[in-house]
Amino acid sequence: MESAVLRPAVRKLRLPFPKYKRGIGHDLLLDRFSEDCACQESVSSKRKIRVGIIGTGGIAGAHIREYLKMEDVEVIAGADLIPGKAEAFFRRFGVERARCYRNHKELIDSEPDLDAVSICTYNVQHAEPAIYALEHGIHVMLEKPFTVTLDEAIRVMKTEKKSGKILTFGFQPRMSENMQMIQKIVDSGELGKVYYLQAGGGRRRGIPASHGTSFIQKDTGGVGAVGDIGAYSIDMLLKAVG
Ligand SMILES: NC(=O)c1ccc[n+]([C@@H]2O[C@H](COP(=O)([O-])OP(=O)(O)OC[C@H]3O[C@@H](n4cnc5c(N)ncnc54)[C@H](O)[C@@H]3O)[C@@H](O)[C@H]2O)c1
Repeated sequence: MESAVLRPAVRKLRLPFPKYKRGIGHDLLLDRFSEDCACQESVSSKRKIRVGIIGTGGIAGAHIREYLKMEDVEVIAGADLIPGKAEAFFRRFGVERARCYRNHKELIDSEPDLDAVSICTYNVQHAEPAIYALEHGIHVMLEKPFTVTLDEAIRVMKTEKKSGKILTFGFQPRMSENMQMIQKIVDSGELGKVYYLQAGGGRRRGIPASHGTSFIQKDTGGVGAVGDIGAYSIDMLLKAVG
């Protein structure tokens, strides 16, 4: 079980990295969390959005299932470090036409027409594929947690700002009806100035290891429970107070 408490006000988020005094990186990070997503780009209604999936493990299944429901999206390629894994993944979902590659670089270099990628790699492989995709003008749907170090987070955000592309994260709870209601209440002013927030979260049925344990192994997960499950709580807290 894990719980996260931020106080007195999440707007003054104090990052748990003492060597980072408030500076450019810190401001950039806070900006990023407090900014509304104002990115807008016109997309031709005549053609489908071409998507690639980087990392074809457990959560990639949830991504492709949703893409397959969207009439204006076409999954054209995928990549995984483990030979044959991407091919087996696409066979399982009946998308045999998708081209398969061995890693994010090979996929992005070989697919000049990609519009967007889902990055479903384990945590320590979030930053590099995200930066590489944004640098190549590709929108990114990045799984949580954002990154495993503050340096990586800042590098990704700087690249996003430069690229003008959309970077979004796999934090489903921020879209939930509960969160919308919480935001509505906070925005209404009924609670006054919010100075204390608390959130908790945990896994009720142990470690979901059916697809492997990459998210709890240090060399692949990179961070502990706060990064894995706590990331949802922190995201909800930040979202609640805008
Ligand atoms: N939003 C959610 O509900 C949710 C749920 C589960 C997992 N996740 C997140 O999704 C991510 C993946 O989790 P998982 O359980 O699917 O892990 P997994 O280990 O099952 O799959 C990750 C895959 O990525 C591949 N990979 C790593 N680096 C790569 C690279 N550079 N190029 C191509 N392939 C690469 C690995 O070979 C592996 O097959 C984690 O960051 C995890 O926190 C999110």
